[in-house]
Amino acid sequence: MNLLITGGCGFIGSHFIEHLLRHHPDYKVVNLDAMTYAAHPQTKEFLQNLAPSRYSFVHGDIGSALVGEIIKTHDIDTIVNFAAESHVDRSILDPGSFVQTNVVGVQNLLYWARKLGNVRFVQVSTDEVYGSLEPSDASFTEHSHLVPSSPYSASKACADLLALSCFRTFRQEIVITRCSNNFGPRQFPEKLLPLVIANALEGKSIPVYGDGRQVRDWIFVADHCKAIDQVMHQGKLGEVYNISSNQEVPNLEIISKILQILDKPASLITFVKDRPAHDRRYALNSNKIRQQLGWVPATGFEEGLSRTIHWYIENSAWWKQLRDKAFFDYYTANYKAKFTPEAKL
Ligand code: NAD
Ligand code: TYD
Repeated sequence: MNLLITGGCGFIGSHFIEHLLRHHPDYKVVNLDAMTYAAHPQTKEFLQNLAPSRYSFVHGDIGSALVGEIIKTHDIDTIVNFAAESHVDRSILDPGSFVQTNVVGVQNLLYWARKLGNVRFVQVSTDEVYGSLEPSDASFTEHSHLVPSSPYSASKACADLLALSCFRTFRQEIVITRCSNNFGPRQFPEKLLPLVIANALEGKSIPVYGDGRQVRDWIFVADHCKAIDQVMHQGKLGEVYNISSNQEVPNLEIISKILQILDKPASLITFVKDRPAHDRRYALNSNKIRQQLGWVPATGFEEGLSRTIHWYIENSAWWKQLRDKAFFDYYTANYKAKFTPEAKL
């Protein structure tokens, strides 16, 4: 196969490229990434060294005509789209950039995939498109309504619907995956787990939004990548596949666990003002991919957490470099000014 992977210098995309190069020795991969704040230069180098003869990098935007050039030049037969603005908090500050990449960018990928010979298109989406659950609600299935709460999840829902419309209208080869919250090495330290680990290691306070009883359904990133691989090969066209490890954990419980493992005091926990429209609980039913494609997650929550924490301990230069960048400071300052004035609740 000749694959175009977009957003491959980000967290999940980089793991997926690593997975492809290690498990499919005959596949060739082109990585198109705009190298936004979320992409680490070291990730780019790391991927380049994995399999130099089967991997190439193109610096560019999924919303540009570069997409068509890459498909033609590299005879691409499959696109897997990870490129996105991916953080809910940022989407509240700047919804426009989310619509630009997550909607307009996806429309451009779909256009070129169609124009140049029905290239298979895998859209990597999220459980956040389903909205929020109450504690007693059954978990989301692929038939649940789309009720996104944030500009991020709304832009992802829009892309899913666009892709499905291209399946129906143009018979394009489309499959969609919707996964729960990922964790693992190389995640940008604006997301909960790496932020807690990094702050704890530095003895900094840990901002907990609202009461901290929100629940997320956690999956180790390698399990997500294996699932996307199976959907890409075996998924039924025009279908959606939920991906989750069924590991629901309240935020405060995860934070306490990390502090315990790192032997840091609970006094680092600081309750701050809640995120607007904060989804209370995510829980995802993944029976379809398990029963129809035989996918099973391999990494339990405790094991994944331990591997993740150790990676951040051993790679402090990696996350410190990101946190020291001017844009991150700018963002953090703006974010704090808008939603989390340092005052404790
Ligand atoms: P990330 O923010 O770590 O990485 C995104 C990557 O996309 C970066 O390398 C960035 O440079 C690149 N990018 C951004 N805009 C681009 C553009 N216009 N053109 C080309 N490249 C661009 O994101 P992630 O956490 O790895 O998420 C990857 C995908 O998985 C996203 O689509 C996200 O919605 C989805 N997803 C994420 C999670 C999660 O827990 N992180 C869960 C489910 C689904
Ligand atoms: P996040 O990693 O942003 O993922 P998402 O909002 O897409 O699920 O947040 C995970 C949970 O952690 C969510 O309930 C918000 C909460 N959270 C905090 O309490 N403090 C923080 O500093 C961050 C980044 C998140």
